[in-house]
Amino acid sequence: MPHVVKTPQPKNLKGILDKTNEIHHGKLYTGYVNKRNEVEERLAKVNPEDLASGNQTYSFLRGLKEGETFAANGMILHEVFFDVLGGTGDPAGTHVLEEIEKEWGGFEKFKEMFAACGMSARGWAILAYDPSDGKLHIFTADAQNQGGVWGATPILPLDVYEHAYFIDFGSDRKSYINAFFENLDWSKIDRRFTQASCCCSPNGDCDCQDHCHDNHN
Ligand SMILES: [Fe+2]
Repeated sequence: MPHVVKTPQPKNLKGILDKTNEIHHGKLYTGYVNKRNEVEERLAKVNPEDLASGNQTYSFLRGLKEGETFAANGMILHEVFFDVLGGTGDPAGTHVLEEIEKEWGGFEKFKEMFAACGMSARGWAILAYDPSDGKLHIFTADAQNQGGVWGATPILPLDVYEHAYFIDFGSDRKSYINAFFENLDWSKIDRRFTQASCCCSPNGDCDCQDHCHDNHN
């Protein structure tokens, strides 16, 4: 089954024009979905010569595999990015806020670190749940197919490529990051966090009843 555009375009955001997201969602995110399908179709048809000529400097297969991860991560990160926009920006009452406060010593300290990571990255700053230590981390990526940590689930990705903010803020990335925070829907981030961190097995065994509450109901 080909991949499809699953996440709708957020509209009427505070400080971020619909025009920005019409381009960002309609051309760029949609483009990643289409390119992922195209690469997978080409991979299904590689011939013995393509396999025999595999080469780390350049080869047809190398180009496809490089494009595959760039398109896949572009699709996945934009799906979460657009999904968690459209809220009030208020994280109060969420499980993920409890974890953030535990990890960073308060929401404002987290926001300061996350925004600084957004200023330091060339592509993405990503709040992710890492099951290898059971903690939230902020990871940065200069390209969307580099810098990811295997097994970690992105629950709050901040796109800092210039296409995300240049129409609205010019080169003022800081103001874009502030606007991003004001538009976050923390109920969606919380759902992603509880799903990622939940250790429930399919038969209902669970070591984290509180976090799994939403999943059980
Ligand atoms: Fe983007």
